[in-house]
Amino acid sequence: MPLDVILGSQWGDEGKGRITDLLAAEADVVARFNGGDNAGHSVTVGDRLFKLHLVPSGIVHSHTTCLLGNGMVINPAQLLEEIDQLDALGIDVSPDRLKLSSASHIITPAHLALDGARETKRDEGGLGTTRRGIGPAYTDKAARDGLRAGAMEKPEDFASQIEAHMRSTAEILDHVYGHKAPEATDVARTYYEHAVRLQPYLADVGALLADSLEQGKVVLAEGAQGTLLDLDHGTYPYVTSSTSTVAGALLGLGIGPKYLRRIIGVTKCFQTRVGTGPFPTELFDDTAERLRGTGEQPWDEFGTTTGRPRRCGWLDGVLLRYAARINSLSELALTKLDVLSGIDPIRLCVAYQHEGNTYEDLPSDPASLGQYAAQYEELPGWIDDLTVIHRWDDLPYNTQAYVHRVQALTGLPVHLISVGPERDQVVRLGNEN
Ligand code: GDP
Ligand code: IMO
Ligand code: MG
Repeated sequence: MPLDVILGSQWGDEGKGRITDLLAAEADVVARFNGGDNAGHSVTVGDRLFKLHLVPSGIVHSHTTCLLGNGMVINPAQLLEEIDQLDALGIDVSPDRLKLSSASHIITPAHLALDGARETKRDEGGLGTTRRGIGPAYTDKAARDGLRAGAMEKPEDFASQIEAHMRSTAEILDHVYGHKAPEATDVARTYYEHAVRLQPYLADVGALLADSLEQGKVVLAEGAQGTLLDLDHGTYPYVTSSTSTVAGALLGLGIGPKYLRRIIGVTKCFQTRVGTGPFPTELFDDTAERLRGTGEQPWDEFGTTTGRPRRCGWLDGVLLRYAARINSLSELALTKLDVLSGIDPIRLCVAYQHEGNTYEDLPSDPASLGQYAAQYEELPGWIDDLTVIHRWDDLPYNTQAYVHRVQALTGLPVHLISVGPERDQVVRLGNEN
């Protein structure tokens, strides 16, 4: 009856999709618990690259059941587009194996318009949201004005609710932001059609999960975004609007903690961030370019959802320790170690400096992070191509030393080292390290 949680320990894009796909080989159920189509999770299988935004990354395996939890916000048009794309690729996305929580919330064109309007109005480039309507949809949820997916059971009534919502939001858009909202009746008609198509997917995800766990099935909870984008525990206000930390897995799936087994913090061996907000280890030099890549490789650091170049920097051990604490991580899965090949020395942030003092922990107000300077430790690099290595013993000495240092810094074991995006480009660790 184990529940394993896979979540990001940084600012997103750590390789959660890749690790979820890997572990889904031995799981029965894969359930996404937070966020919406602001997420972009890539799974590479041979020459096929799957870019998932809403559908759990476990869908690529044919034996899994995939669930979209109540903690998510769903843009129905996006979900249907993703279902159609996967279907065209030969993936079974029938309601038999893909299910949508009736308690998840619906994103509308008004939410998209509001997201854009609020961003434009914010000072200094705003928060850098994905403009997918995420913030406004969660705002309506918290205000008890949201639209739940379960309403799609009755498409006619759902369309009326959508129309009323579009009209009331049009007033805000017009009066506060001077924006014209999309025509309410057109949107209602389109959403009626979405409801007819999505109705068969609706389910009580919490009940399904409880059954599966009681039957002894292995469930993977797949998080979107990362710990530092968490609404409560991230670098507020430069965060997303959902709970991307471990509590979000229980909250966003409707299950209790007794089934928890592994809590895996997916950690890229350097730091990236899309959008605005503090980033103590950010680099602006050739190393940043090197880490980011040119965009030629599918794994280069350009947003899966928005195509924006990601800001890049050294791995931040202070933030990683914080992620370990906030999530009670049981282990780390290290990704993109192959990308560090050829960089020498490799730097690792072990503390912060601020006004002459050294801090080994995050300041209580993460928003003040921008005033802290990173204090680094230097480790010798390696030049070997790691993408062909499958065993710990075959990794260069300096790579092993780097992994050991990350383990010592966090007090956590590393059980998976990803050395490429392909399923077999992984080094699995037991007790040998
Ligand atoms: P997610 O949002 O956490 O799922 O991560 P993304 O999919 O947005 O970004 C990770 C990118 O790196 C994807 O293109 C993955 O295919 C790729 N990737 C994952 N692990 C590795 C790895 O170990 N090495 C390399 N080179 N690419 C990887
Ligand atoms: P995955 O799941 C990286 C960032 C946005 C912005 C902030 C708020 O692929 O790791 P939002 O649209 O959520 O209101 O934007 O959060 N952001 C992500 N950054 N990876 C993601 O998802 C992200 N989802 C949101 O860039 O800074
Ligand atoms: Mg991503």
